[in-house]
Amino acid sequence: MTLTQQEKQSLVDLANTARQRAYVPYSNYPVGSSLRTKTGRIFTGVNVENAAYPQTMCAERIAIFKAVSEGEKEFEVITVVTDNGGSPCGGCRQVMAEFGLDTVVLMADGTGRIVKQTTVRELLPEAFTPEHLGKEVDT
Ligand code: THU
Repeated sequence: MTLTQQEKQSLVDLANTARQRAYVPYSNYPVGSSLRTKTGRIFTGVNVENAAYPQTMCAERIAIFKAVSEGEKEFEVITVVTDNGGSPCGGCRQVMAEFGLDTVVLMADGTGRIVKQTTVRELLPEAFTPEHLGKEVDT
């Protein structure tokens, strides 16, 4: 996959702008995410919290679910932007793994600085995937 520095930065900037729309009255920790599909489409997500705390949904999962609900299941790159360059939670890593271990993951801080580039495979070693259920996933 070819991903230029400019493309990375523009995806991070998109997530950072989306982050302003995070609904975070409880944690006050806004998270923005963006992803680019293998077909070149771009989706964003923000965390959406709830008074019943466990019903909160992370930014990355919202971006992924928006993409899947629009018919996209193959992702080149997913970004996550937080105030302090935080890392995707375990639940989001698992959801990322469902759709491919080679997806690039970029983490950035609130200034838009990319603090880490990695892959889902690195973030979730020995991931449990659809293959373990004997599934040939139709992408
Ligand atoms: N959060 C995300 O949106 N993504 C992550 O990967 C980590 C956590 C959100 C959930 C909650 O709204 C806030 O950050 C604090 O946990």
